[in-house]
Amino acid sequence: MKKIAVFTSGGDAPGMNACIRAVVRTAIYHNLEVVGIMHGYDGLMNEEFIPFNVKSVSGIVHRGGTILKTARSKEFLTLEGRKKALNNLKKNNIDGVVAIGGDGTFKGALEFSQISDIPLVGCPGTIDNDLRGTDFTIGYDTAINTVVEAVDKIRDTAESHDRLFFVEVMGRDAGLIALRSGIGSGAEAILMPETKTDIDDLINRLENSRKSKSSKIVIVAEGDEAGGAFIIAEHVKKRLPDYDTRVAILGHIQRGGNPSAMDRVNSSRMGFSAVEALLAGHTNEMIGIVDKKIVYTPFANAVKHRQGLDPDLVRMLEILSI
Ligand code: F6P
Repeated sequence: MKKIAVFTSGGDAPGMNACIRAVVRTAIYHNLEVVGIMHGYDGLMNEEFIPFNVKSVSGIVHRGGTILKTARSKEFLTLEGRKKALNNLKKNNIDGVVAIGGDGTFKGALEFSQISDIPLVGCPGTIDNDLRGTDFTIGYDTAINTVVEAVDKIRDTAESHDRLFFVEVMGRDAGLIALRSGIGSGAEAILMPETKTDIDDLINRLENSRKSKSSKIVIVAEGDEAGGAFIIAEHVKKRLPDYDTRVAILGHIQRGGNPSAMDRVNSSRMGFSAVEALLAGHTNEMIGIVDKKIVYTPFANAVKHRQGLDPDLVRMLEILSI
């Protein structure tokens, strides 16, 4: 192996830059040439390749977003697109690839492996933490911290006005951001797609603590089956009209900001291990960290058997939020 490429794809996540830096520096340490591909799979098909050196990745370990930019590619879903991508890799003498991205990125990589003989490994970059084969994905810890910080602020105003707030958080169809940030911010209830949302039950919970708590925060995962925060708030308002209710959608602030120390360290470990995995002959595997150890999970397993909610955390949440 003489030359490798790295790209980021899907939604950006804080820590992707730290991962790119680790890939580039580890590759150079092992005397490999390394190029960055801009705009994910789109850049692969459009041959947006830029040579990297040690200095190209200076001063980025602490920065959110991705210097390589990212995209959710439609063209790569087509066989034509994937053939174009393979052609460009061959033309540029790339003999190993590191893809940093989430579910969609690895599904794309799996499809690509049907036609490509170029080794490709992945680092899990998504704030959603919904991949099997790693305890934490790149960006998840930072996103949770962002949510907790935002909810702390909402709590101040909620407490001052004795209000009930519904705060909607990201996570696509997973409730992992909601669960941890809800525990961390002391939310009164957390609604997640993985658990049944029962409005009667929610109302009981709110009513049970009517006297003991003046402000209430309900965290709603965007993928919850009962609908988004606005819809749920409307249902509750009809049943509890005397509550002063507000809704806050946190949105894309959850994807930005400087990565937490934990994300920087995990991203660096994964980027470093991705290059060493390529050199050791791995392909079509996601690099993850489970119980502090680096593990390799075939893409098919990482995306098909998604990471679920930790039942111990769910039980604890029920007890602590009374
Ligand atoms: O997968 C990361 C994520 O931020 C999800 O939590 C969210 O549903 C989605 O991406 C939003 O995507 P976009 O930035 O394309 O609107």
